[in-house]
Amino acid sequence: MCGIVGYIGNNDTKEVLLDGLEKLEYRGYDSAGIATLNADGLHLSKVKGRIATLREKVNNSVQSTMGIGHTRWATHGAPSEENAHPHQSASGRFTIVHNGVIENFYEIRDEVLSGISLKSETDTEIVVQLIEVLNNKYNNVAEAFRQTIALLKGSYAIALIDAQDQDTIYVAKNKSPLLVGLGDGFNLVASDAMATLKQTDRYLEIHDKEIVIVNRDYVEIQKLDGIAVEREPFTAEIDATDIEKGTYPHFMLKEIDEQPPVIRRIIQEYQDENDNIKLDPEVRQALLNTDRVYIIAAGTSYHAGLVGKQLIEKLANVPVEVHIASEFSYNMPLISEKPLFVFISQSGETADSRSVLVRIKELGHPALTITNVPGSTLSREANYTLHLHAGPEIAVASTKAYTAQIAVLAILAVDTAQAKGMNLSFDPLQELGIAASVMESLTDQKEEFEQLAKEYFQETRNAFYIGRGMDYFVVQEASLKLKEISYIQAEGFAGGELKHGTIALIEEGTPVIALSTQENVNYSIRGNVQEVAARGAKTCVISIKGLDQETDAFVLPHVHELLTPLVSVVPMQLLAYYAALHRECDVDKPRNLAKSVTVE
Ligand code: G6P
Repeated sequence: MCGIVGYIGNNDTKEVLLDGLEKLEYRGYDSAGIATLNADGLHLSKVKGRIATLREKVNNSVQSTMGIGHTRWATHGAPSEENAHPHQSASGRFTIVHNGVIENFYEIRDEVLSGISLKSETDTEIVVQLIEVLNNKYNNVAEAFRQTIALLKGSYAIALIDAQDQDTIYVAKNKSPLLVGLGDGFNLVASDAMATLKQTDRYLEIHDKEIVIVNRDYVEIQKLDGIAVEREPFTAEIDATDIEKGTYPHFMLKEIDEQPPVIRRIIQEYQDENDNIKLDPEVRQALLNTDRVYIIAAGTSYHAGLVGKQLIEKLANVPVEVHIASEFSYNMPLISEKPLFVFISQSGETADSRSVLVRIKELGHPALTITNVPGSTLSREANYTLHLHAGPEIAVASTKAYTAQIAVLAILAVDTAQAKGMNLSFDPLQELGIAASVMESLTDQKEEFEQLAKEYFQETRNAFYIGRGMDYFVVQEASLKLKEISYIQAEGFAGGELKHGTIALIEEGTPVIALSTQENVNYSIRGNVQEVAARGAKTCVISIKGLDQETDAFVLPHVHELLTPLVSVVPMQLLAYYAALHRECDVDKPRNLAKSVTVE
């Protein structure tokens, strides 16, 4: 969470910082600030709220060629101007931005900084105060920075400036993402390459606990013990137009519409010239070697993992467990003899998932990451990576990453089955192509879903989704989409489980959305619909061709039964989108959330 941008060059820095922070708002948007340095000294602007508010506050007449900026998702201390970054040392000489959580915050505060009165409630402020204390001792900023980094425990991405030095930004990271962008006569620091694509596409990776000195003309990386590190830059392969809304009112709507082309791109990327599946042979072997797959993920990616379990078990006959990352870290189940851990993560940066990855690597287990960001932490640190090819996903509510994850999992499942010599009648690439066309036909019928959203969600405080089998997994995702962007309290239940308690919540007019795309449970789920209707629920059934009934609110065109989540989720995404829109919610940046959750 939180986004960092830094610039040191020859041009004015304000716009680079503000524009970069706007691109990073997906990482948090409850408060923001920038600090710029020039011959007159340090200029600090901080606000509670969004970058747009910060823009209004920044003094346009101040020119400066270096600075740092931050957009925050609060962890320590409420969103406020005092707690917004950048934070400063007692004398005002040092200024810092930080993303992450300092775990030994209280120890440092009580043992080293007891004489200093802190101005904020943040863990970040102790870092900058500590740097000043150590600099007073050593009279050497680089040494004070190095010693501070050596003392810190937890996760951090840090950029520091010294009011007495207009030529250096000090940078370090541990667990939280941070890159250095390289330019001609300037250099940058950013949590994500997306922030600074206008300036450069050349980036340097920073590894955990390295110290990086960023100057206008050079970048120096050192290990904590001072040994210099040489590293080749890489080119960020992101198209700058992918991160613009274009003519769409919201990124979420754009990304819903992008799903069919994303599925087609996945087909292309995972297909060889003979129309067979093309997959990294090492990934194939890892699947063949394992006796049990452990899928680890959070949020929407966890929901894709639930679908993935069905695909891998049904198609490849390999047992799969799906775990919520934050639970797995602290409650590890018994692990089989030859496990394969599969991390599903759009961003590849989710701290909960990464803590599991670190743990299972210590135990010597192999890991595969399925991600949309191949250079991300989870990708770098796993043994293997499969790329989602979904293009940048900006809206906080995940849509195209979910369907891309399911498509890649389907390909992985079929590839494993084929490698095991199983004879499948299912051609995944062809079936994915059919699903992509159906998804397209659904995104062309937005008015229908807008109408349904009006009818069911305009007035309500709560809503229920029910499904069975594969549909149960999709309704969990459907309810997450609705609650996160429209703030309607929504839950997705297994149809048969409702009568064991939750049915008590059904009142006259309670919306219940049922999904029925699975033949073996079609009659049972319809029975569950009758049960809630008899108790006053306002029911809406979305079914699939062949299983449909006359009273159904919408009938999806036919796709292969194992791929129904790819299409059944589209109406659910659109229902959530329009519900949020009609309630005048901030669709792309819902309250309290962030897209990339880099704290545990
Ligand atoms: C956050 C986002 C969710 C996302 C989850 C996991 O909570 O708001 O949309 O599903 O993190 O993120 P990941 O990048 O690991 O898929």
